[in-house]
Amino acid sequence: MAKLNLYNEQRFDVRPQLFGSFLEHMGTVIYTGIYEPGHPSATPEGFRGDVLKLVRELGVKTLRYPGGNYTSSYHWEDTIGDQATRPKRMNIAWQSLETNQFGLDEFFQWIQQADVDNPILTVNLGTRGIDDALHELEYVNGKYDTDWANLRRQNGHAEPYGVKYWCLGNELDGPWQVARKTPEEYGLLANETSKAMKLMDPDIETILVGSSTPRLDTYPSWDFKVLMEAYDNVDYIAMHNYIDRDQSENLDQQALRDSDDLPTYLARSREFDKQIDEVATIADAVKALKHSDKTMKISFDEWNVHHFSQKKPQPWGEHNPVDWCYFDLADTLLFGSMALAILRHGDRVKLSCQALLVNTIPLILTDEGGNAWANPTYYVLQSILKNLSDTSTVIASSLTDSQNYSTKRYQDVPVIDQVVMDTGSAYVVFAVNRGEKAQTISVALPAAIKSGHMEHIVGELGDKNTREHPETLTLQPCNDLTVEVGSKAQTATLSGYSWNVLTFDY
Ligand code: AHR
Repeated sequence: MAKLNLYNEQRFDVRPQLFGSFLEHMGTVIYTGIYEPGHPSATPEGFRGDVLKLVRELGVKTLRYPGGNYTSSYHWEDTIGDQATRPKRMNIAWQSLETNQFGLDEFFQWIQQADVDNPILTVNLGTRGIDDALHELEYVNGKYDTDWANLRRQNGHAEPYGVKYWCLGNELDGPWQVARKTPEEYGLLANETSKAMKLMDPDIETILVGSSTPRLDTYPSWDFKVLMEAYDNVDYIAMHNYIDRDQSENLDQQALRDSDDLPTYLARSREFDKQIDEVATIADAVKALKHSDKTMKISFDEWNVHHFSQKKPQPWGEHNPVDWCYFDLADTLLFGSMALAILRHGDRVKLSCQALLVNTIPLILTDEGGNAWANPTYYVLQSILKNLSDTSTVIASSLTDSQNYSTKRYQDVPVIDQVVMDTGSAYVVFAVNRGEKAQTISVALPAAIKSGHMEHIVGELGDKNTREHPETLTLQPCNDLTVEVGSKAQTATLSGYSWNVLTFDY
């Protein structure tokens, strides 16, 4: 039987903001995703009430907005003021027409209704620069009697929004990006932008663009070079990574390769562990080279499993469905392991954003004029968010006597992937069983427990939550935990191919 060992004295804090999500002006994320004035559930502001309810139930607190690639050519000031006179623009990043009916102030109204309290805004460092970033910051956070702050007041928003986190552009290393830059160009621009923004508002923290993906040839030298330019003036380096079962190994190769076999696919969260370790190592090298006392934090502000769209793209419409897709149980298990990779590195990764919240490789799916429902990945994230609070800590842990497997790509992959958290009143074990067979684990907890329970996501590997069957894969109560009240020793059985949450109240 596998034994879960906890190292109670080795812990670090993890906060609710660690697991956020992302809203971008792309596809049907905004229009018909969260904003649809004609929808039967619409609020007076035109927000979809059914989606707001799902977002509140998800419990997400951090949200990045408004992009993404969209931000490298957008004009933030098109999105404010009287909706009737806002300019309609071409969204050249995503080949659609942007009506700007949902803009910056609507975003702040929406997050209030969604119980999200930690927005991250991205400024345009593609086609624009320092001046526009400063104007936007002044509009959003300005508290003095100045022009942009007064415009916000004039638009009906007396109080500054107090946004703390600011992305200094997006994926400016990517060949697909509008106004891509060399690392030296970008690093200098980001450094000067961050410096100026902090002179205006010393309470903000800024996020430097790291490599868009480890599949680019410029990874990780981009990260090293931009950090060398901007280390002293930024607080986070960004990481992005999407894993698709048959994507090419290198973004410079167009051709897809053979799909991963299941054991390989389920182990691909290892790429997250590796990438986080590598980016942290690069950042620490720059720290040493600069004789700095500051440790660079990581914002993993785009991550997910990925599939190509199930809907036909319709370019140059007002909502072009670019990436609408269902995730099955296999995707959900990989997604669970990706989340565990982030959680186990929560001493270094302090922000992350699953991408995206609605309709593009989404947690939540919507039909225009119809229903909203959730991909199974939603329930994984919900079960983690439910346990994060201002007292939660991750406890270092390891499994002994457990089964491992190897594939052509990966050696010694533990069949059970796990992380243990202490919420302040309970020990919570999150675990993925990557194997077909049930696995029993014994765990020696640091304290005797008063009660316990277990929930899991199980099903057939190809199961999905479709519009016809929207709740095929959800978190379900599970009886495979025999609770020994008053004891520190507990035993549980994890079903084959399952996501599990074991809660031990002490
Ligand atoms: O799928 C979202 C897009 O992916 C973002 O706009 C971009 O940053 C990334 O390439």
